[in-house]
Amino acid sequence: MAVDAPSASVLNTPVNRNSMPRILVVDDEVGIREGLQALLAQTGAWVETASNLLEAYRRQEHHPFDLVFLDLRLSGEDGLSGLDRLRSGPTPPEVVLLTGHGTIQDAVEAMRKGACDVIEKPFEPAHLLAVTERCLETRRLRVRVSRLQGRVRELTSTELVGQSAEIRELLDRALQVAKAPDTTILIQGESGTGKELVARCIHERSSRADGPFVAVNCAALTESLLEAELFGYEAGAFTGASREGKDGLFAAAENGTLLLDEIGEMPLNLQVKLLRVLQEKSYRRVGGVKDRPARVRIVAATNRKLGEEVAAGRFREDLYYRLHVITLEVPPLRERVDDVPLLAHNFLDLFGRQMGKSLTGFSEDAMETLCEHTWPGNVRELRNAIEHAAILCPGGLIEEAYLPRWDGGLPGGTDMIPRDSFAVPDGERSLRAIEKRLVDLVLEETNWNISRAASILGINRTTLYNKIKLHDLGSRRAHGRGRVPV
Ligand SMILES: Nc1ncnc2c1ncn2[C@@H]1O[C@H](COP(=O)(O)OP(=O)(O)OP(=O)(O)O)[C@@H](O)[C@H]1O
Ligand SMILES: [Mg+2]
Repeated sequence: MAVDAPSASVLNTPVNRNSMPRILVVDDEVGIREGLQALLAQTGAWVETASNLLEAYRRQEHHPFDLVFLDLRLSGEDGLSGLDRLRSGPTPPEVVLLTGHGTIQDAVEAMRKGACDVIEKPFEPAHLLAVTERCLETRRLRVRVSRLQGRVRELTSTELVGQSAEIRELLDRALQVAKAPDTTILIQGESGTGKELVARCIHERSSRADGPFVAVNCAALTESLLEAELFGYEAGAFTGASREGKDGLFAAAENGTLLLDEIGEMPLNLQVKLLRVLQEKSYRRVGGVKDRPARVRIVAATNRKLGEEVAAGRFREDLYYRLHVITLEVPPLRERVDDVPLLAHNFLDLFGRQMGKSLTGFSEDAMETLCEHTWPGNVRELRNAIEHAAILCPGGLIEEAYLPRWDGGLPGGTDMIPRDSFAVPDGERSLRAIEKRLVDLVLEETNWNISRAASILGINRTTLYNKIKLHDLGSRRAHGRGRVPV
């Protein structure tokens, strides 16, 4: 079949942004190899040849191709088995089989094994070029899809990164409760610790994974709006309600998981209604009389201590006990410092890829600062700090200077030293003695957190290290985690 030859400009569109299409011709007949190489090279592609499978594998492993023309009957070799091996890598090339005396069965088998096309020899150059164009287009789309899939995986990743005993225990419990797809779960933890991530992780590892995951922030809406949002409403249920009525989030999350975030902020009246849903496993739209089945798993999250909210009369005790069946506590980041390096590297990889920068890691000082910061905003704050550094860093190692500047710890006076703890005995009134006492005191107060101590003392870390050496304080260090050169 003769078709118009595609223009060279289509064929030489790069498959990868920074390279021309790479084509390999594998055939034991030198005439075919050279003929194809000359024909394809005219299109602007980079073309190499191989006379047997071993050479083809070697070339493919050395520098992968986008498209391979493979002779089905190489002397003494089976092109079909070669097809498997050539396509076994992470981004397999498209393969077009060339057959001199092919049967339909061979062609069917080849396509079943993933060949892009089969061409009978002798071939029409125009047809061959048209097939080449189509296969390279397929390859371009595959590369693009796989990049996008990677990006989607990154954005929707529910991987809980962490190696500390605390996070491993949390993950174990989360996986256990994931297996009970109807059990209500309460997740408690400070802001930014990863409560929503834990909820998503449970959802994705449960039998509800194919259903939707829907999250609603109970603090963001007024009582009546939240009620309508959760349960939906009937036509004319209130002024402004649409004529047809509307489904709510219980319906949207059907067969999936509904995360009620900031449950501690839910108005008391709605708490009663939620309790009824949990007990009866059904709900009514606002203004409705019909019970609708609530086929969702409820996960509630809060950064308050719900027990204390109950004691203060702000949260219903009966709902608390109903939610409290399984409680997962997500520990603050400062209590699992072991996770900081791993999380930091993970975020660095992520932002490096997103920004197209080669960020190779952290300098020792930068990592030390990260490990010593108290992270009041938890993992979210760490993520933001790494993003900040990734933006500023031109490439290579993240130095301390690229990290955000912290003002020495939590607001609210946690870094204040009680006045009466700094009495200066009569015999020790030299400046040097006073400096020694002050540095010693601040180090003790901050549990040898070098960054915070330096910040409180108004000096940089290197100066503080020098003072520790000068006054020989390192040897007096009783506990703490800061590293001190002695
Ligand atoms: N263990 C972890 N591994 C990887 N990323 C994490 C981890 N924990 C938290 N994150 C990331 O930190 C950010 C904050 O997490 P998340 O929204 O789950 O916190 P939260 O506890 O729900 O916070 P808030 O109380 O403010 O709603 C998200 O970008 C999340 O992906
Ligand atoms: Mg949240």
